[in-house]
Amino acid sequence: MRTRALLLCALAASLVGACVPKNYTPVEQIPALKSLAEVMDVQSTTADPEFAKIGQGTYADADFAAFAETSRKIDATSKHLKDFSKGPEWDALAAQLGAKATALGAAATAKDAGAASQALTDMKATCKACHSKFK
Ligand code: HEC
Repeated sequence: MRTRALLLCALAASLVGACVPKNYTPVEQIPALKSLAEVMDVQSTTADPEFAKIGQGTYADADFAAFAETSRKIDATSKHLKDFSKGPEWDALAAQLGAKATALGAAATAKDAGAASQALTDMKATCKACHSKFK
């Protein structure tokens, strides 16, 4: 099955010039994701590698670039989360996630390691807060 999927993937790639696994969902495609599970998959594949960098005193330019990309993607997922709303508390947590994404973006632009680490810490806490309430 896996081989067949890979072959189909290769065929699709040769036809349309791209075969993008869903964990590489580009930011523009996030609003079209059909299920909460897909949104969460994008969130974890985007944010988890960055969460692993929490607490470092310094970051390379490549890290700040990854933080900026994470900021854009989580901003998009946080907006799309409202389409799966489970009430006002859900919406507030989604908005909070968006605010942390904005903070991460600002830290990335400023190349402020402390602010970036803090924004990632706060973002991770927001993921957890929603999971303990709704998952
Ligand atoms: C507004 C609420 C909310 C926020 C914020 C949120 N999640 Fe979720 N998450 C959920 C719910 C609800 C589920 C269970 C979905 C289901 O049952 O289909 C879930 C499921 C998941 C899953 C599926 C795997 C599992 O253990 O069930 C992952 C991975 C995940 N979330 C990652 C994240 C990450 C990373 C963030 C933060 C960047 C985040 N989530 C933020 C509500 C949220």
